[in-house]
Amino acid sequence: MKQRLAQRPDLTFKANIQHGRHSWLRLTPAFSAQLVEAALERAKNKGRALDPFCGTGTTGLVCAEHGIACDLVEVNPFLVWLSRAKTREYTAESLHLARQLALHAVNTVKNSKTDHTLWLPPIHQIDRWWSPLRQRVLGSLFAALHSETFGDESARDLNLIAFCRVAIEWSGAAFNHQSLSFKTHNPSLFEPDEERLILEHFVEELYHVLSTCTSPIGTPVRVFEGDSRYIHHIVPDKYDLVITSPPYPNRISYVRELRPYMYWLGYLKQAREAGELDWRTIGGTWGVATSRLAQWQPESIGLFSSLLEPVVSKIAAHSTILANYVLRYFHDMNLHLQHIRHVLLPGASLFYIVGNAKFYDTLVPTHEILADMMRGLGFYNLSCEPLRKRNSKKELFEYMVSAEWRTP
Ligand SMILES: C[S@@+](CC[C@H](N)C(=O)[O-])C[C@H]1O[C@@H](n2cnc3c(N)ncnc32)[C@H](O)[C@@H]1O
Repeated sequence: MKQRLAQRPDLTFKANIQHGRHSWLRLTPAFSAQLVEAALERAKNKGRALDPFCGTGTTGLVCAEHGIACDLVEVNPFLVWLSRAKTREYTAESLHLARQLALHAVNTVKNSKTDHTLWLPPIHQIDRWWSPLRQRVLGSLFAALHSETFGDESARDLNLIAFCRVAIEWSGAAFNHQSLSFKTHNPSLFEPDEERLILEHFVEELYHVLSTCTSPIGTPVRVFEGDSRYIHHIVPDKYDLVITSPPYPNRISYVRELRPYMYWLGYLKQAREAGELDWRTIGGTWGVATSRLAQWQPESIGLFSSLLEPVVSKIAAHSTILANYVLRYFHDMNLHLQHIRHVLLPGASLFYIVGNAKFYDTLVPTHEILADMMRGLGFYNLSCEPLRKRNSKKELFEYMVSAEWRTP
């Protein structure tokens, strides 16, 4: 049955590319607006929704567009900023100011001389990301967007979204497979024209962003920065509905993919901070996070699910660090599931989109282990529904784990 599942791009970030505000910035592990709509249709009560791992804010935006109150939580401050910007109501005045700021910035860059004091993001090996000419144009544009004459935060945020879209498009990075690679940069005779092309592209991107901003936001979305392992200390309400996609135990680093934006916008100032953030991220293993795994000890004793033990011991036969990685992933998800119970209303529906993983020849059935942990924590009506095949290894799939919390 599983083998017949299709890849279903309509359920992934790919379906968001042409979809209004959902198109603003790509995060490969984002799910599609349609998937959130499908979960909403199945939810019993839609009073107040929560996404504890909100990423780019897809759940919040869909709920807001349907007039459903929704709170979002995210550990990565850049994604908190993006989710807030994406789910905000924009006034005609802000849109007008955003246009004015863009024109001011473009004219400033056109009239500027080479500035040796130009601030550039402290990203490692910046020349692999942008040629010196592109660094100069992007750096001047970024400085001009921070002109003090334009104090409107919403107008600046919209420009910064357009800036991020341009910065990634003109970078040497290729994000078309899991491990990021760099295109070779061949300087050409026509390179000086790039300044004009980058600025034109920036204006086009701003107009694209502005054209999507007019969609009404029925209900304000609140976005909280925090660690959802301790969700009960973060959100101020109780919820009827949880729609979310937590990380999977597949060693993919969100911080790594978002690095260029995070350095430009000042959310990362040095490489070490990226590793520290990844360590707070469930399933993160980048930089310092990998070395800490070797010494990691669980906060509570016990395996939370009898399904986990055989999986972890098979992986441990090849690598203690990877076995610890998988154990820590489920330990952290267990902390999250324990604590989310304190913020759920009786009868709440939960939808968790997760993927399985494979280490050596051992499959990690994330969906089954999470469902088993949820059952042990008192959730009921559990089901695991296969959604789609992932495009990497052939046994990898995504599932919707659904559950309910206590009868009303
Ligand atoms: C699969 S992505 C969610 C994508 C989202 N559904 C979307 O459409 O953009 C998982 C998110 O969980 C966040 N995350 C990981 N650990 C977290 C934690 N401990 N607390 C809160 N958020 C966390 C990651 O930063 C990432 O953005």
